[in-house]
Amino acid sequence: MADNTTIDSLLHEERRFPPSDEFVAHRVATPELYEQARADRLGFWAEQAKTLLHWHTPFTEVLDWSNAPFARWFGDGRINVSYNCLDRHVLEGRGDRVALLFEGEPGDERSLTYAELTAEVKKAANMLATLGVTEGDRVVIYMPQIPEAIIAMLAVARLGAIHSVVFGGFSAESLRARIDDADAKLVITADGGYRKGKVFPLKPAVDEAIADGGTAVKNVVVVKRGGNDVTWVDGRDVWWEEEIATMSDEHTAEAFDPENPLFILYTSGTTGNPKGIIHSSGGYLTGAAYTHKNVFDLKPETDVYWCTADVGWITGHSYVVYGPLANGATQVIYEGTPDAPQPGRWWDIIEKYGVTIFYTAPTAIRGFMKAGREIPQARDLSSLRLLGTVGEPINPEAWMWYREVIGGNRCPIVDTWWQTETGAIMVSALPGITHTKPGSAQVPLPGISIDVLSEDGVHVGAEAGGLLVVTEPWPSMLRGIWGDPDRFVETYWAKFGDKYFAGDGAHLDADGDVWLLGRVDDVMNVSGHRLSTMEIESALVAHEMTAEAAVIGADDDTTGQAVVAFVILKARHQKDMSEEEAAAELRSWVSKQIGAIARPRDIHIVNELPKTRSGKIMRRLLRDIAEGRALGDTTTLTDTNVIDVISQAMLSGGDD
Ligand code: PRX
Repeated sequence: MADNTTIDSLLHEERRFPPSDEFVAHRVATPELYEQARADRLGFWAEQAKTLLHWHTPFTEVLDWSNAPFARWFGDGRINVSYNCLDRHVLEGRGDRVALLFEGEPGDERSLTYAELTAEVKKAANMLATLGVTEGDRVVIYMPQIPEAIIAMLAVARLGAIHSVVFGGFSAESLRARIDDADAKLVITADGGYRKGKVFPLKPAVDEAIADGGTAVKNVVVVKRGGNDVTWVDGRDVWWEEEIATMSDEHTAEAFDPENPLFILYTSGTTGNPKGIIHSSGGYLTGAAYTHKNVFDLKPETDVYWCTADVGWITGHSYVVYGPLANGATQVIYEGTPDAPQPGRWWDIIEKYGVTIFYTAPTAIRGFMKAGREIPQARDLSSLRLLGTVGEPINPEAWMWYREVIGGNRCPIVDTWWQTETGAIMVSALPGITHTKPGSAQVPLPGISIDVLSEDGVHVGAEAGGLLVVTEPWPSMLRGIWGDPDRFVETYWAKFGDKYFAGDGAHLDADGDVWLLGRVDDVMNVSGHRLSTMEIESALVAHEMTAEAAVIGADDDTTGQAVVAFVILKARHQKDMSEEEAAAELRSWVSKQIGAIARPRDIHIVNELPKTRSGKIMRRLLRDIAEGRALGDTTTLTDTNVIDVISQAMLSGGDD
């Protein structure tokens, strides 16, 4: 969490940016939304669900909260999510509208209209049905950011099956853990994808994950993308292209219970294995469509929308796949990294496709700031009219840079706070209504009720800090943790009874605006991605060299936080290699265990870790050391000398 000086300066932020008259004149969200939601919250949500979506059977019940915290929304209706994202646009005359403008990292392009995307999804659904996928089955998707990833998700959804997308940067071990937990019967992957000018293979990780035959996986469907060689298991592996070529593009979408899980998405928690967050069909799609339309001021006939998130994360689910497609948007998807083959790639894409709405993470913005404003300024970004950020707090300096350099001082910025668990944006300015404020996520959306509470559950009031909670259920709320209802109740609902505990610290300023201050638990936020300190520590101690390890999230100028590890080697390994070599070995070990995103920025090989008398590692001290701060009170330490030892080790360059 931010320290007190930072909080003070944030809370006295004086800058306000009202929307232009032009923006207000054409805005999508109107102030009446707040009134309507306040007057009749459930009626408001019912109205959103009815107007934004097609229900095969209309619902009459809005919310059943009798079994709280297990919610049922729109429970007696029937819906097909894939039909809502595809068929109805075609049937209502929008078939020729472009749905996806795909740009591959090597520069290849592909565009798919709603009619074409619908036909592709129908073929893919027929293929999956032939492979035995039916309602309720789990399908793992481990793909690069290419149209087939989206087609695969919508095809799984079309059958009433449940997808679990695993980000392509996760290791074989992480993939295996997710396949096991969800008991998936099918995996959809690709030979490889492009990243930083190279093909990165995906299939070997799938092969490794299921090699021992100990999973429920019967088939692996492989999309050709990288053109790299793959090893093949006859009878198990099938090429997507070969199968699809024989499939009909006719497929009638069946209507399902809106509470059927649409997907499971794993996210890091405080302890133990990642949690499989379950999202529903009808409520989730209502939340995704409603927020996408209003927060992004979407005009589907004219906008070109681009969210840079990978479909492996919740932002990719809600704001690349489900929200935009339910709303009939035209959107860009880009396979690669922002700086391949040159640092202006993203701005070239905005110029090329005339992107009007752009949604990305503060880490990316800070990275571009470092690279210099000349790069975006050499491109024509005048098509942009709205900017968004997500995933981590944005510092006012980065916010101002985004506004001036990317937005030309004319685009409202929406700083959107939400989580894997909330399914959709919860706290954000509404463009054309809210006067925006650099660094603050500002206000709950109409229909969303939040509060900031002290540890003992009391509202903190203006200019005070506490814990962020959601006080009323909302349609896109998580429905549980896969296979672990107790953990669901314990993690989110035990602390404040019927209020959802988000795990974030927050401050309310004098205007009542919300400032997010970071996690209050042992979850780090690195480049807008959640990582568990415990999970990385477990990976480190699983290495035979490690005796003990402590991991913290230290402030980082670009990535928000960075993974920093302190490791004690077992005595017999201390002489085996230099500290640099040991650190390098452990960094790649963590990559292999969890994935490259979890690789520590720094590993410090130390002789001792600071502990309290009861044996608890003092992470606060480690954070102070890693961030170069003066040390606070260390009187509870068993041996204050430890600190000197660690600081010395760091000064002498004990990392790599
Ligand atoms: O700490 C908050 C931070 O990201 C966490 C959720 O991470 P995840 O489930 O991976 O979802 C990220 C994308 C929605 C939150 O608990 N976070 C997310 N958005 C913001 C944020 N922190 C500050 N400001 C935001 N706009």
